[in-house]
Amino acid sequence: MPSVFIKTYGCQMNERDSEAVAAQLVAKGYSLAPNEWVADVVLLNTCSVRDQAEQKAIGKMGNLIGQSKKSGRAPIFGFLGCMAQSRGRELIDSLPEVDLVLGTQKFHRAAEYLDSLLHGRARKVVDVEEESGSQGTIREHLAAAEGRKAVSAFVSIMQGCNQHCTFCIVPDTRGPERSRTIPEVVAECEQLVEQGVREITLLGQIVTSFGRREYPAVDGRSGFVQLLDAVHLIPGLERIRFTSPHPKGYGRDLVEAYGRLPKLVEHAHLPVQSGSNRILKLMHRGYTRERFLELVQELRSVKPDMGVTTDIIVGFPGETEAEFQETVDLCESVQFDQVYLFKYSPRRGTPAAEMENPVAEEVIEDRHQRLLTIINDIAMRRYEALVGKTQEILVEGPSRRNPARYEGRTRSNKIVVFDGSERQKGQVLTLKIERVGSFTLYGDPAIVGLDEPLVEVQAA
Ligand code: 5AD
Repeated sequence: MPSVFIKTYGCQMNERDSEAVAAQLVAKGYSLAPNEWVADVVLLNTCSVRDQAEQKAIGKMGNLIGQSKKSGRAPIFGFLGCMAQSRGRELIDSLPEVDLVLGTQKFHRAAEYLDSLLHGRARKVVDVEEESGSQGTIREHLAAAEGRKAVSAFVSIMQGCNQHCTFCIVPDTRGPERSRTIPEVVAECEQLVEQGVREITLLGQIVTSFGRREYPAVDGRSGFVQLLDAVHLIPGLERIRFTSPHPKGYGRDLVEAYGRLPKLVEHAHLPVQSGSNRILKLMHRGYTRERFLELVQELRSVKPDMGVTTDIIVGFPGETEAEFQETVDLCESVQFDQVYLFKYSPRRGTPAAEMENPVAEEVIEDRHQRLLTIINDIAMRRYEALVGKTQEILVEGPSRRNPARYEGRTRSNKIVVFDGSERQKGQVLTLKIERVGSFTLYGDPAIVGLDEPLVEVQAA
């Protein structure tokens, strides 16, 4: 059977889609190639959110094609996912060696199309059609297919987004909102927990809109909170995370859920995008700076240790220096634990790409640099504040930076590296934080578990 290598660009949703495709192919007998240079099938799962992301995948494909010609190999090449969806056939027009272009609603057809290509029944396949029910097809997990044990898993709960932020290409690449059912999601989570998973991250482009049509509010609880309640009941599951939510999806019910559901960890990724009300309006975000600040307060009053992270775009069309300063000011007042900072990139077909007064590239660059320094200083201080404190971590396995050590995550989503052992994988430990690196905490194993009360020996 052929070997496959899938390279993923972009977000966690893309990672999850690639995993589901890989698992399907493994189930059909494919092996996973160790790298792109030896594989019989090379698939690039792409991102469209900024132009740079698209250029990376196109450049990589050009490079792969060039190398394969030099070495006399002729693997099957495919583009999957968001850029495949938005560019379609055009990708084969510019790179004729590409065999497969598979959109975001068609991941589950990968095995069938590859089979046709490998057996000469098709010369090229482009499928970027809409498919009803496709939100339920991202469900196979690689760990299960390969018999590996995973501690943490992603579960896709919905696809698409109806928010239509003016800068964003996602409504085009992922289509309108479509949710899976609560029983389907719960069944997938239960299966994962049976296989040893301890932490589940519920995924979607706008998870707070989960089940908006299908699950009307019950006792003031939205469809998404009903889903959290249902997943929370699964015995053996230790932690629940989710991403990406929309700040306007944080009603009272969701804020309260953090206080009510002990498995729901203290982390909220709240993409603010800008600190200026005028820019937020132009972006079509649906909240104001004041409401955003109030939301952070509400969350911190329920859980004071809440890790708050965000996404920010600098250089949206028309952004003035004063409006940029409002974003700086918002970062200083919120004190985010981490900020994903983006330079505005015009996306075709989006309203913002047509707006007047684009910000000059060097101004965007300058604002990006200035804000980066500020947010990194703030984040460093947030991390340093944990030194000397104890943190509950879920051990995920060997550290990605230093495989001789182990790593886990705090409930607020910070990586902790410590001297651990395989036996601790999947365990929840309490560690004392000793020092801080770049977006990493170091815990002292000598103090593991010392927070728990010692067994008292009663004198006879
Ligand atoms: N330009 C720059 N950043 C963007 N993002 C989305 N669209 C664009 C764009 N056109 C950022 C937003 C979003 C994150 C995933 O990517 O901050 O939250």
